[in-house]
Amino acid sequence: MGRTTQTVGRKIDPAISSVFGRKLRSWYRRNARDLPWRRTRNAYEILVSELMLQQTQVSRVVTKYGEFLEQFPTLADVARAKPARVMEAWEGLGYYARARNLHALAREVTDHGRTPNVAIPADPLSLRALPGIGAYTAGAVASFAYERRAALVDTNVARVLKRVFAPHADVKSTKGQKVLWGIAESILPRTGRTTWTHNQALMELGALVCTARIAHCDKCPVRSVCRSAAKQPGGYRA
Ligand code: ADE
Repeated sequence: MGRTTQTVGRKIDPAISSVFGRKLRSWYRRNARDLPWRRTRNAYEILVSELMLQQTQVSRVVTKYGEFLEQFPTLADVARAKPARVMEAWEGLGYYARARNLHALAREVTDHGRTPNVAIPADPLSLRALPGIGAYTAGAVASFAYERRAALVDTNVARVLKRVFAPHADVKSTKGQKVLWGIAESILPRTGRTTWTHNQALMELGALVCTARIAHCDKCPVRSVCRSAAKQPGGYRA
């Protein structure tokens, strides 16, 4: 008793997971926005986009992202710059700790710009050891730049996973986060290449359909396997 048919501990029934993943990725291929950081596999460019997107809306990031990369085309360019110049280029995005961390990370990885061709690490554990890189950003860089089979959970993804698989999870608690990360891991596709699409699709569903204020269940590709939508014929309100 108390066990649902979808969750066994933190594991999702593989049959449900497979339906969820296939429907999600098929929807993404038809509905994804064409965003500049989805056209690159350059780890530095992906890192810049992910840092910018942490606290800032996509529409504001799109312009700033291009300008920033024109001014600082590589990680070594950031490392060699004075911190004030990096801050200036960040102007308008706010939360300047992100820019400070990027500068510190660039100096650490490239030895102050002296080893310009060194790569940003590909595995989440090494990424997490760098300044300003948390679990989410580590998963994002590993999966989006290196097509690694790595999970990610940010606010949007947490909301989607909670609604679909774990309606009783408290996204704000440590335990709830553990549950959601466990779910994110257990529904990863088999290959890193598919993980790229899978993770982008989770984020896109949270941004476009399963939004914070209202879940547009009528437009949702995974409503047949969603534990929150099942009893909500129209839109599910948070
Ligand atoms: N927010 C954070 N990462 C994102 C991504 N790759 N695409 C859209 N929004 C995002």
